[in-house]
Amino acid sequence: KQTPLVILNFKTYLESTGEKGRDLAKALEEVSEETGISMVAAPQGADLWRLSREVEIPVLAQHIDPVDAGGHTGSMLAECAMAAGAAGTLINHSEQRMQLADIDNVVSKMNSMDMTSVVCTNNIQTSAAAAALKPDFVAIEPPELIGSGIPVSQAEPEVVEGSVAAIKDINPQVKVLCGAGISTGDDMKAALELGSEGVLLASGIILASDPKQALLDLVSKI
Ligand code: G3P
Repeated sequence: KQTPLVILNFKTYLESTGEKGRDLAKALEEVSEETGISMVAAPQGADLWRLSREVEIPVLAQHIDPVDAGGHTGSMLAECAMAAGAAGTLINHSEQRMQLADIDNVVSKMNSMDMTSVVCTNNIQTSAAAAALKPDFVAIEPPELIGSGIPVSQAEPEVVEGSVAAIKDINPQVKVLCGAGISTGDDMKAALELGSEGVLLASGIILASDPKQALLDLVSKI
């Protein structure tokens, strides 16, 4: 059986920015080493280089723009993210929605650059559409539960199960993650029982008084 995956989206919390982001990435690395569970950090773009230098765990960008090299001031270029040490990127997060053709553009670019693509979706239909684009992962996150502390695995288990079924039906190679409101060992266990292969989460760990302990709790029931 494959080791479940934990991706921590650092978002733009001050608790996961700059030096504090470094500490959080170190906590992820330590818990990964101590438990054998794969942990991945997704910091802000400006922190990619620093974190990728300082930890051995994979680091993902939170977003890459669907642009080629040239005149695109303010954009995140895939080649720049790669040079900064990113192993891949989140795509189409609820807080950074993209058009379908642009999602396809970035997934294709990740595939051609041998980088990891994690397409976020909001329901069963968009999960199915995302799977058709051949990303490495689809992460289902009902937007209304993001940051709520109410776990998707409890509030909308049918969306996770339905997404897993729809995604595997279209492309069995695509791995499925779920997220929104996940913070405890019970939440993670339930997410895996619903057929997901890991979790994408943020506030439950980032805002915890002791993030390392929160990570240890998260994986304690697997
Ligand atoms: O990308 C992870 C995310 O949107 C879930 O956020 O704070 O509910 O874990 P949170």
